Amino acid sequence: MTQMQRFRDGTGLKEALAQAMDRLEDAGVVYPKGHLEQVLERYTLKNVPYPYIVLRVWVPRITRHFFYSEAVKLRGEFLDYGCGTGDAVRHLLRDGYPRERVRGFDLTWKSIDLGMDLYADREEVGDLFLVTDQFPFRPERFDTVYSGSVFHVIEDEDEFMEYLMYAHDALKPGGIFFGSTLGLRDGVVARSSAGPPRLMKRDEMTGYMAKAGFREITVRVGDRSGMPGAAPDLCVFEFCAKKTAHQDEGDR
Ligand SMILES: C[S@@+](CC[C@H](N)C(=O)[O-])C[C@H]1O[C@@H](n2cnc3c(N)ncnc32)[C@H](O)[C@@H]1O
Repeated sequence: MTQMQRFRDGTGLKEALAQAMDRLEDAGVVYPKGHLEQVLERYTLKNVPYPYIVLRVWVPRITRHFFYSEAVKLRGEFLDYGCGTGDAVRHLLRDGYPRERVRGFDLTWKSIDLGMDLYADREEVGDLFLVTDQFPFRPERFDTVYSGSVFHVIEDEDEFMEYLMYAHDALKPGGIFFGSTLGLRDGVVARSSAGPPRLMKRDEMTGYMAKAGFREITVRVGDRSGMPGAAPDLCVFEFCAKKTAHQDEGDR
């Protein structure tokens, strides 16, 4: 395997896929013989759009979020917005969330397909995922919208604002938007050259969310253990915000 096919921490794609499958086997997934080889034939680092998510398949990221236990209890209509491999969807289902109330949406099938190959559950969950290039849901459709590691991949300012506004519009009044993103640690003045395209400071992120209409915004620094090899000026921000019941649309 060439250098190009290795992650920054040195793990190769084959090892990363094998480790992901080990984690999933521990969680009860049963693979047919030769499954790893079949999956390896389908994927290279070039067609895994966000390679690092392979390292984190079934790593309990959403479940560590400070709002997760509340989100599970809410049992409302739930959208995983920018779902990637769909880890969050599987964690919710594993924790008893009603499947008819969960949807995963992304702009591309690539990571969703990889997720279904790794979880070997295409038949069971295929209908929960939706891909279009335009946000497909009507306003006020969801009680909860989750965003896992999406903010930091959206470089373009207008696209980022649009992402937040769709999340806001899709929520019912009183609905909750929660998730996590890489950001700049408090006290860091400017980003280093390494890292994803968008790295915001806490206040900057709060400002964007307020501009999209969110209120009661909480941002906490989360667990860094899921980001091996990341620069020390980066951190994981966990956020939670509300669409107020009587939103003044004029103040966006
Ligand atoms: C780093 S991956 C994270 C995936 C998953 N949420 C997770 O936690 O593993 C970021 C995902 O956001 C999606 N994404 C980026 N921009 C988006 C947008 N404007 N609307 C919806 N999804 C978007 C990407 O396609 C990708 O699947």
